[in-house]
Amino acid sequence: MKPQIYAMPGNEILAAALTDGTGAEQGRLEYRKFPDRESYLRFHGDVTGRSAVLACSLHDPDSKTLPLLLAAATLRDLGAKSIGLVAPYLAYMRQDRRFKDGEAVTSLAFARLLSGAFDWIATIDPHLHRYASMAEIYSVPVLVGHATRVLVDYLRQRQGTIFLVGPDEESEQWVSSVAKAAEAPYITLRKTRRGDNDVSVSFPDISRFEGLAAVLIDDIISSGHTMQVAVAQLVAFGFRQPVCLAAHGILAADAMERLKAAGAVIVTTNTIPGPTAALDVNPLLVELIRPTLFGELKP
Ligand code: R5P
Repeated sequence: MKPQIYAMPGNEILAAALTDGTGAEQGRLEYRKFPDRESYLRFHGDVTGRSAVLACSLHDPDSKTLPLLLAAATLRDLGAKSIGLVAPYLAYMRQDRRFKDGEAVTSLAFARLLSGAFDWIATIDPHLHRYASMAEIYSVPVLVGHATRVLVDYLRQRQGTIFLVGPDEESEQWVSSVAKAAEAPYITLRKTRRGDNDVSVSFPDISRFEGLAAVLIDDIISSGHTMQVAVAQLVAFGFRQPVCLAAHGILAADAMERLKAAGAVIVTTNTIPGPTAALDVNPLLVELIRPTLFGELKP
């Protein structure tokens, strides 16, 4: 029996790409709200004894997580053989420490919630900063894919004309491997974050890059303030239309408008759908999950 892939609301394109790419079957999950705003869910068809996958990217996660957990619990109840989650963007990875007394370490709490509901999870470039691996917080296997390949393919078209900029020390691991593969020079900036929307960056001397185009690379553009301050300085140094390239374009609130107003061009992958999501990571996800889905590998 073929595995069944179900789209959580808003993830229909992702579920169709996974179904087509893996040769699994597309299952039908009916989802709506009751008048009191509680969720109604119904799986059509028989999932008993079959492997099931829920497709759900987890940007803006709070409204998505409860329906997701209810769906996973229902699949368990209906006798699914195994339940996987494909979340191209996995939320709640950034609060990985208690910075102030009493703060929630939400990365850990969220990992426990998902680990209790799923048998395996697949994602692209989770934000690993103070954790060395997903196994530190997730008790189920997490299959991790990397967007590096699609970013490098994009950069190769501009080989010899660009230099890369990692906006903070954390981005060093990320920007250095992309730079090596794309054969482009790179620098990293020093970032100071004083609050959610209060960020500054300092540049080394970049006069040697005169005549090249700047490409800022980060794993996530969230509020966009990190990219915005870096773009503003690059433009002031005379580097016109810097490209902001990222795996995950959350682009919260008016981030896209602010970045464009600062002079940036924004290019992201489709881990989060939207007008900047020009680079397709779905083939990577297909490759990542196929062996687990068809039982060639134990998750
Ligand atoms: C840092 O921890 C990340 O790699 C990104 O630099 C950060 O998440 C971007 O956040 P924002 O867009 O809110 O400045």
